[in-house]
Amino acid sequence: MPYSDAQCLRAREDFPALSRSLDGKPLVFLDGPAGTQVPDPVIEAQNHAYRMFNTNTGGEFITSRDLEEAMWRTRETVATFVGASEPASISFGANMTTLVFSLSDAFSRLWGEGDEVVISALDHEANRGPWLQLQDRGVTIREIAIDRQGYFDPDDMRSKINERTRLVAVNAASNALGTVNDLSLARELSREVGAWMLVDAVHYAPHIALDVQAMDPDFLLCSAYKFYGPHVGILYTRPGLLNSLPTNRLCTQISAAPYRIETGTLNHAAIVSIAAAIEYIAGWGEGNGLREQLVDAMGKIYDYEHELAAHYYQHVAAVPGVKIWGPDFSATPRSPTVSITSGKISTDDAVRDLGAQGFCLWQGHFYAQRVVELLGLSENGGLIRMGVSMYNTRSEIDRLLAAIERLPA
Ligand SMILES: Cc1ncc(COP(=O)(O)O)c(C=O)c1O
Repeated sequence: MPYSDAQCLRAREDFPALSRSLDGKPLVFLDGPAGTQVPDPVIEAQNHAYRMFNTNTGGEFITSRDLEEAMWRTRETVATFVGASEPASISFGANMTTLVFSLSDAFSRLWGEGDEVVISALDHEANRGPWLQLQDRGVTIREIAIDRQGYFDPDDMRSKINERTRLVAVNAASNALGTVNDLSLARELSREVGAWMLVDAVHYAPHIALDVQAMDPDFLLCSAYKFYGPHVGILYTRPGLLNSLPTNRLCTQISAAPYRIETGTLNHAAIVSIAAAIEYIAGWGEGNGLREQLVDAMGKIYDYEHELAAHYYQHVAAVPGVKIWGPDFSATPRSPTVSITSGKISTDDAVRDLGAQGFCLWQGHFYAQRVVELLGLSENGGLIRMGVSMYNTRSEIDRLLAAIERLPA
């Protein structure tokens, strides 16, 4: 059974935020790329943690043991979500950015003059800033060029990766343009020179089933709040690798994976609710076991989101003055995120006008500052971005299209 309009309407009942309205009209949440709304089971899982085991890990008493068990079960569930075999390959942090800074901090103890890190022009600053900072240690940073749709230039990539490269840090999907890059060349070239590959899968994870066995990264990061979960960052590390890294940690802390990069007391109640988010998504699929159900559900939700986003893409292109940035919908895979500029009024004024009508939309560069700069849009307020999530309907998209048509000149 596909994920259809009827299933979407059923899913909407699970998301309490969708009942909010402004001036009598329901809010329209098209801000998923900046964070999705959260269904009841995720809220309930967090409440349950506060009610039942609000303590710390490592104690010889029941609430601590219950918390430990819930945390480990969450690592197992997240491992299934990314396609990893070992729960110990999953670490948690405040958010993706903080985890990347922790890694760059560790690598700064390993690398200096003569070492190189390759980043991309497409990436969110979270996968650029922490690496650019290594220049203070003498590390050379090289940037992979992109075309205007956000695809990596393969020749440029070949020219930037060499025997001095220690790390290739790239994203799997662009939060600004919706572009999904094939990372097989980055993996092949980095492998050839013995460099690690780190993947920012924050924008990819909500839309396409991750498979670390196929993608084969050394590090992969995502954020649960982009896939109906809490504000928590997730790090997958290739089994065995984390234990060799000189991470920042206390001498009192467990030094083995997955704990080696987890400092202090984590946000346990939030973390354990990630499992509920993953199980919620999987609940829309069929198959034997969680992984099969997840892959099935995500494939069906992808088709549903893709159709709505393609509908928007096709119709918004016809609005006088509107220009679309990023690949069209013949590109597969692609994320259901579409960015435009409106020739009529400024980006800020446009989203203010739309916001007053109940549309939750972001504008600007969304921290993907470099690509917006390269597209020549920094001076004009950047992009107006909408992203489709599993709870969006065709009538919401049509309402947005009509509102964009009405934008004052
Ligand atoms: C593609 C991408 N990478 C990284 C991040 C940063 O994630 P976090 O907020 O968890 O640090 C974001 C957040 O918007 C993102 O969209």
